Amino acid sequence: MAEYTQQQLLDLVNTVQVAPGNARVRALTQRIVSDLFKTIDEMDVSADEFWSAVDWLSRLGASGQTGLITAGLGFDRLLDIRADEADQKAGRVGGTPRAIEGPLFVAGAPTAKAEVRVDEGEPKGEVFVMEGQVLDLAGQPVPHAMVDVWHANEQGGYSHFFPGMKPYELRRRIETDAQGQYRFRTALPPGYSIPPNSPTSELFEALGRHGHRPAHIHFLVVAPGKRTLTTQVNIPGDTYIDDDFAFATRDGLVVELERDVAPAGYESLGITQPFVRSRFNFVLQNAVTEDEALPLTRMERVKA
Ligand code: BEZ
Ligand code: FE
Repeated sequence: MAEYTQQQLLDLVNTVQVAPGNARVRALTQRIVSDLFKTIDEMDVSADEFWSAVDWLSRLGASGQTGLITAGLGFDRLLDIRADEADQKAGRVGGTPRAIEGPLFVAGAPTAKAEVRVDEGEPKGEVFVMEGQVLDLAGQPVPHAMVDVWHANEQGGYSHFFPGMKPYELRRRIETDAQGQYRFRTALPPGYSIPPNSPTSELFEALGRHGHRPAHIHFLVVAPGKRTLTTQVNIPGDTYIDDDFAFATRDGLVVELERDVAPAGYESLGITQPFVRSRFNFVLQNAVTEDEALPLTRMERVKA
């Protein structure tokens, strides 16, 4: 028998099996394939449309831009919303809100104790210092926390992904001191935009959407016994602050900027002129499992 109706074909695809396989993968694949069969039928998808989508997916995979698409289609924020909902249900409230990691983290940035110049001594914009403490929910300092910071350069590019940048440029890890304090000097970053003439920009042009993110700085904050925090802060005043292509901006994560701060006390960061400062404390929840305190990013976590 090799003549099938659509439903017979779908049933076959969803049930054929010579070994147990992985039950979860089977269930998810069945659901997704069923939904796609339905979409193709109900929306009368032509063969050309189908193969053009397959071609786009192949080019997307080869470009390494899948993480831009997941963010732009809301999946990264969806996972954060679901994690927040799970926390609410479990009564785990308080602390700095989580915000999406994004696809541009690189592990292994150089480390420093208490303070560092993230801009590697080559200022390219307004001098900016961000400083504060890592605290627990009771307001007690968390010494020896590791604050991993990364952000875009003056052209919106991230090192490792953007041509011409040094390895780990604008990426550092800062270990908090005995009072849980950290501080770093950098240049106020601009926003990020998806690469033009790319599989990602093709989709967003076809959707009639822009691909801009407002200016932001990413953090991964890790400390023994504390729940690892992935978050990012936004710089106020950006055109896209309420229109982020990745839907990632959050209340409580827009920092305040103090302008014309006197340089006294900031000499060790090479500051001799008035500069822009922001004070921001990271508040960590206690970890309830060992796994929650691991210093892992999203991709390291799935490979661990
Ligand atoms: C970013 O954080 O820069 C970013 C996040 C999601 C997609 C693309 C970029
Ligand atoms: Fe970013």
